[in-house]
Amino acid sequence: MKVLVTGGSGFIGSHVVDKLKDKGVDVRVFDAMPTFRKDIEYYQGSLLDMDALGFAMNGVDAVMHLAAIADVKDVFNRPHYAESINVRGTINVLEAARAAKLRRVVYGSTTWVYSEAEGDSVDEATPLHAPSHLYTATKLVGEYYCRTYSELFGLDYTILRYGIPYGPRARDEAVIPIFVRKALSGEALTIAGDGSQFRKFVFVEDLAEGNILALQSIARNKIYNLDGVEKVTIRQIAETIKRILGDVKIEYTPARPGDFAGKEVSSELVKKELGWEPKVGFEEGIRRYLKWYSEREKTRKANWEKLDDTLKK
Ligand SMILES: NC(=O)c1ccc[n+]([C@@H]2O[C@H](COP(=O)([O-])OP(=O)(O)OC[C@H]3O[C@@H](n4cnc5c(N)ncnc54)[C@H](O)[C@@H]3O)[C@@H](O)[C@H]2O)c1
Repeated sequence: MKVLVTGGSGFIGSHVVDKLKDKGVDVRVFDAMPTFRKDIEYYQGSLLDMDALGFAMNGVDAVMHLAAIADVKDVFNRPHYAESINVRGTINVLEAARAAKLRRVVYGSTTWVYSEAEGDSVDEATPLHAPSHLYTATKLVGEYYCRTYSELFGLDYTILRYGIPYGPRARDEAVIPIFVRKALSGEALTIAGDGSQFRKFVFVEDLAEGNILALQSIARNKIYNLDGVEKVTIRQIAETIKRILGDVKIEYTPARPGDFAGKEVSSELVKKELGWEPKVGFEEGIRRYLKWYSEREKTRKANWEKLDDTLKK
C-alpha cells in the first residue's frame, strides 16, 4: 500500500509519516514546506495547485489529508487565505483523489466542530450547530465535502476529529510549548481565564496511530473522535511543568474570544470499532516533549555557535 500524507511536514502529519514508515507502508509527502526526513519521497506544492496534487496522487492508494492553516490565530489574521487553503484545498484533494481513483481519503478534522453543540457531553452522533470561529467553519466544510464526494462519486472517506494534540514538534505557539519556553526562560506562565477550563490533550503519537487504524475497512465513510482521556485544566498544565522543572510563576489574563470552552468528547466509537485508545499519559507526554525541546534547543545553540561571527549580526 502507498499512502500520500498532505501536511506531512507539519506537526501531526510528520508523526503520521513516522508511524506509516514504522509499519512498513510506502509513504509520500505533499506539503508546501520541506520535510526534515531525508528517507521520504517528497513532493513540494500547494493544495491550490491541481496539477501538483495530481502528480502527487499518481500511484497512491490512500491519502491522509492534514495540510491546512491549522493555527486559529493564523485563520483569524488571514481569514480569506485560510478559507482558500482549508476549504478549496480540501475539495482539490478530494477531486485529485477522485481522478486518481484512490481507495480512501482520511481527513484530519477537529473536536472544535462540537463548540456550539448542545450539552456538555458529545459524540459523533451529536447534532452540530453553525460554528462561531472561521477555523471551525472551514474544517466543517471539509467534512461536508468528504461526505458529498462519497455520496456523489463513491470516494470513501474517514473523518478523524482530533482533540488538542501535544508532543514533540508541536508548533511553538501552542499552549504547552509557550508554557515550557516561558518556564525555561524564567518568565511567568500566563493563563487565559481562571485556568479551570479543561482540555483532554492527546499525545501526538497516539493521534498518528489513530490515522493508521483508520485505514481499516470498517472505518469506510465513518467519523471518529480521537480525544485524550485525562481531563487536564490549564492550571494543571502549568503545575505539571512546575513540578517537572522546579520554581515557575503563574499569572492570569482575560479569556480569549472563540476559545472552545471544553466539552466531554467521547472516543468510545473509535475504541470499539478500531481498537484505538490513547496510550501516553499527560505527565509522561510532557516529559517526552521536554526531552525533545531540550535536544532541539541544544542543536540550535550548537549550530549558532558554529556560525561565523559576521553572520550572527
Ligand atoms: N494542531 C492542532 O491543534 C489540531 C487540532 C485538531 C485538528 N488539527 C488538524 O490537523 C491537521 C494538521 O495540523 P497540524 O497541527 O499538524 O498543523 P501544521 O501547521 O503543523 O501542519 C500543517 C501543514 O500543512 C502545510 N500546508 C499549509 N498550507 C499548505 C498549502 N497551501 N499546500 C500544501 N501544504 C500546506 C504546512 O506547510 C504544514 O506542514 C490540520 O488539518 C488541522 O486542522 C490540528
